[in-house]
Amino acid sequence: MAIRPILCLPDPQLRAVSEKVGVVDDSVRALMDDMLQTMYDAPGIGLAAIQIGVAKRVIVMDLSKKGEPPAPRFFVDPEILETSEEESVYEEGCLSIPEYYEDVSRSARIRVRYLDRENIMREIDADGLLATCLQHEIDHLEGRLFIDHLSRLKRERAIKKFTKAARSEPGAKKFERAPEIREKRG
Ligand code: NI
Repeated sequence: MAIRPILCLPDPQLRAVSEKVGVVDDSVRALMDDMLQTMYDAPGIGLAAIQIGVAKRVIVMDLSKKGEPPAPRFFVDPEILETSEEESVYEEGCLSIPEYYEDVSRSARIRVRYLDRENIMREIDADGLLATCLQHEIDHLEGRLFIDHLSRLKRERAIKKFTKAARSEPGAKKFERAPEIREKRG
């Protein structure tokens, strides 16, 4: 297992469309282990392989709360089968867009088919934070970022901020990483 560097906006690799995996074998499981370690180290609650520069449709996630035992989840080649019309709003962030949070409205419930860590095909009905987090991570597989769900003005402002930061000299303000998604209450 190894901690890998996380790509940040405006890295063009984040816009790549990831390829299907097909079969979950030991090499995919090794990738998952690196992704999980990288995610826990950040720390974050979800990570897509493209965020460490691997354009494969692999997602790791752990939505356990502080003090609870770790509960890693793995999703390979996830496919959204159904989405609810009803939406819910969460304040989202992204390990690839550090220190930036905005409210995003997504389907409140989704049905997803995916391969698990043992290469078994599964289907789940997700709601709440899991539904939002899955949609956020599946977006990554399509080269989409949560800022794409914001108004054009907000999105352009965010991209500008990170493009400036990327150009600035070493030693300039370093962004702290933050968890991918925070629950929006009320
Ligand atoms: Ni993200």
